[in-house]
Amino acid sequence: MPCPLESTILITGGAGFIGSNYLWHLNKHHPNAKLVNLDSLTYCGNLANLEGLKNNYTFIKGNICDSQLVNKIFEDHQPNIIVNFAAESHVDRSILDPQLFLKTNIIGTQVLLDAAKKHMRDGLFLQVSTDEVYGSLGPEGCFTEESALKPNSPYSASKTSADLIAYAYYKTYGLPVIITRCSNNYGPYQFPEKLIPLMINNILQLKKLPVYGDGKNVRDWLYVEDHCKAITQVIEKGTPGQIYNIGGHNEMQNIAIVKLLIDKISQLLQEESYAKLANPDKINYDLIDFVKDRPGHDKRYAIDPTKIENEIGWTPETTFEQGIVKTIKWYLDNLKWSQNIINGEYKNYYQNMYGK
Ligand code: NAD
Ligand code: TYD
Repeated sequence: MPCPLESTILITGGAGFIGSNYLWHLNKHHPNAKLVNLDSLTYCGNLANLEGLKNNYTFIKGNICDSQLVNKIFEDHQPNIIVNFAAESHVDRSILDPQLFLKTNIIGTQVLLDAAKKHMRDGLFLQVSTDEVYGSLGPEGCFTEESALKPNSPYSASKTSADLIAYAYYKTYGLPVIITRCSNNYGPYQFPEKLIPLMINNILQLKKLPVYGDGKNVRDWLYVEDHCKAITQVIEKGTPGQIYNIGGHNEMQNIAIVKLLIDKISQLLQEESYAKLANPDKINYDLIDFVKDRPGHDKRYAIDPTKIENEIGWTPETTFEQGIVKTIKWYLDNLKWSQNIINGEYKNYYQNMYGK
């Protein structure tokens, strides 16, 4: 295949955070690709993320566990690349309802793999996974692709199982599978239950900022556009049967992120265009609220991306300083997007988790 991205690409979970960013990325950089988005529109699937996406684009509302539907999509559209983003993705929700995570993340992936095995010729199945499959690090060292799989949450255990099933399809049936494992993403369209958008929205509403435990847990942050570029390069240059870690060289303690968001938002609110959104005088560290820790809370994640840098030539381009300002500005410029979510069914989840 001369350029695999000029073909038909089945994106699952394309109405979610990373999936929608990836569809916009393909739309911009590979306008000739035919894009098919299969998404069941769970609480976090949002078609507003894709408003305006037109060229060569088909949306299908459906569940990746629905084998009849998935096979029909393969027959009708004959995709030669599958990028599987669809998942239940929030650790806190996996603690509340593990079974849903097993269904979507494991069975759903297996259904897609099976359909690809049956219908796909000379293509690629890219399984989008997470660094959380490796479990938790101590103060030193980074996850490499060789690190042991030691997931701790129902979410990460389900993603690990999906990786193992995907790899088994490569080994057993010769299905061309690649697995990517990225660190925590941030950027536009991230559902407000996740750390960064949750804190941005709460700061703007002058609500308490719930930091789990002592706030010293570390995550390795990756700007979503850098992740999209990595996926594209893996599709173009990656080797089937391989795993690639994707990380941003951006380790931060949660408490440092929350303080940075407070500082940056206070500064931005001094600008004329944002001045009316909130009163900066009331935005300060007193909003920080140390709350009960998440059960099984992983202490530290950090990715060693040497393999993807050396073998594929990808490196992250966005510093955390740049990415966080872009992200905050996106949320300030798209308040309605967040408000529609915050005032919808998410309200019940928020109250159950955090009280008022
Ligand atoms: P998200 O929760 O924002 O979006 C998930 C999307 O999948 C939603 O649009 C949802 O409607 C859809 N979906 C859920 N169940 C489905 C089903 N059964 N059938 C069809 N569609 C379904 O997730 P995200 O943050 O965009 O993550 C995308 C992928 O990347 C996931 O596989 C996740 O495990 C992985 N990942 C995410 C991060 C991160 O920081 N967000 C980090 C590492 C890995
Ligand atoms: P999250 O965005 O849920 O991603 P993940 O658990 O997949 O890494 O959480 C990122 C970090 O922020 C994690 O250490 C948990 C912490 N956290 C809080 O302290 N408070 C919150 O309200 C949330 C949602 C997360």
